[in-house]
Amino acid sequence: MKIKVLFVCLGNICRSPAAEGVLQRLVEERKLSHRFEIDSAGTYSGHRGQLPDPRMRRHASRRGYNLTHRARPITIDDFEDFDIIVAMDESNRRTLMHLTASPEQQAKIVMMGDYIVKLRAHYDYVPDPYYEGAEGFELVLDLLEDACSNLLEEIINSKQ
Ligand code: 4NP
Repeated sequence: MKIKVLFVCLGNICRSPAAEGVLQRLVEERKLSHRFEIDSAGTYSGHRGQLPDPRMRRHASRRGYNLTHRARPITIDDFEDFDIIVAMDESNRRTLMHLTASPEQQAKIVMMGDYIVKLRAHYDYVPDPYYEGAEGFELVLDLLEDACSNLLEEIINSKQ
């Protein structure tokens, strides 16, 4: 059975589609693509159908990530369909918790910040870059690369 991971932010056009791209590449590098299904969603539906923000696509492409996800809002079914639901910040986590229907669903929600190691002294969440400049997008990618590699290690170790 595939391990299903869903990344969630507010708009699903900056942080979570980038996280999806980062984890996807990590599993490809480790020849584990067949074992994973990776997706992303937003708690806000206003960007539904859009590609990731052009600024995020530009910064990500410089690191070799081609982000093609189309934004979609989180659905009630996601809490059944996915095994791990990763919130980018506390506000996302609170919104997700309100949408859950059982303790089992609540237990699927984890914080991306819990997997940040290298930049831990400065960040324990992934800050919204939408109103930031170029540094904000670079910071998000740094945090996502850090956190995704630790998240993947934990998933692999827990499935062995
Ligand atoms: P994201 O960034 O949650 O990382 O996708 C945002 C995108 C859009 C908005 C806010 C944050 N917005 O207000 O439209």
